[in-house]
Amino acid sequence: MSFIVGIDGPAGSGKGTVTKRVANSLGLINIDTGITYRCVALEVVNQNVPLENTTKIIEIAKNIKIDIDNTPNGDIVYLDGKNVTKQIRSKEVTSIVSQVSSIKEVRFIMVDIQRKLAEGKNVIVEGRDICTYVFPNADVKIYLDASVEERAKRRYKENQEKNIDMTYEEVFDNIKKRDENDKSKEIGALKIAEDSIIVDTTSLSIDEVVEKIIDIIKLKRS
Ligand code: DC
Repeated sequence: MSFIVGIDGPAGSGKGTVTKRVANSLGLINIDTGITYRCVALEVVNQNVPLENTTKIIEIAKNIKIDIDNTPNGDIVYLDGKNVTKQIRSKEVTSIVSQVSSIKEVRFIMVDIQRKLAEGKNVIVEGRDICTYVFPNADVKIYLDASVEERAKRRYKENQEKNIDMTYEEVFDNIKKRDENDKSKEIGALKIAEDSIIVDTTSLSIDEVVEKIIDIIKLKRS
C-alpha cells in the first residue's frame, strides 16, 4: 500500500523547496511532476520545433525517456541518458513549458509516467493537477499559494543562486503568463481540489510552511 501526499500550487509558491524538505523529514519519495513537462519542452527547444507543430511535440513526448535521481542535494534529471538538470530550468524552456504542457496528449503521456513513478511507494508529489487529476484519491491534499509579487521575488532569488540569467521583470511577467495559461488548460488546469487544505505562504518563512505541512501529514497518517 502506498501513501500519497499531493501538493499543488502556482509557480513560485514554494512547492519545490518545501516538498523536498518535508520528504526528507518524513522519509517520503519526492516527485516533482513539472520535471516531466520541462523535459518535453527542452526537447522542443533542442529540436527547434515550432509550438504549432503539436504532432511533432506529441511524438517527442511518446518517445521521451526520463530518469530522475532523487538525491539529498536535489533531483538529478536525465533525458535519454544525458544529465539535463540545469537545461530544464533555462529561460527558453521556462518560457514555453506551460504551452507544451497544455497539449492534451502530452498531458496523458506525462500523467502516465508520473503515476508509474509513484507506484507502490510512499510519495509526496508536487504539481498543478495532482490532487484533482493525477491522484484524486491522495491521502493528503494541499494547495500552496502566495501573492504574484512574493512568488516572483522568490523565483528571482532562486534563479540568481542557480546562475539563471533573468531580470526580475522577466520573472514576474513569466509567472503571470504561466498562471493564466496554467489555470485555463482544458485538462489538468491549476485549481484547488474541493478537499485540499489551502496554505497561504505569502508571509510565512520556509521553516513555518514545512512545519505546518508536516503537522497536517502527521495528523492524517496517525
Ligand atoms: O513546477 P514547474 O514550474 O517546474 O512546472 C513547469 C510547467 O509545467 C508549469 O508551467 C506547468 C506545467 N505543469 C503542469 O501543467 N502540471 C503539473 N502537474 C506540473 C507542471
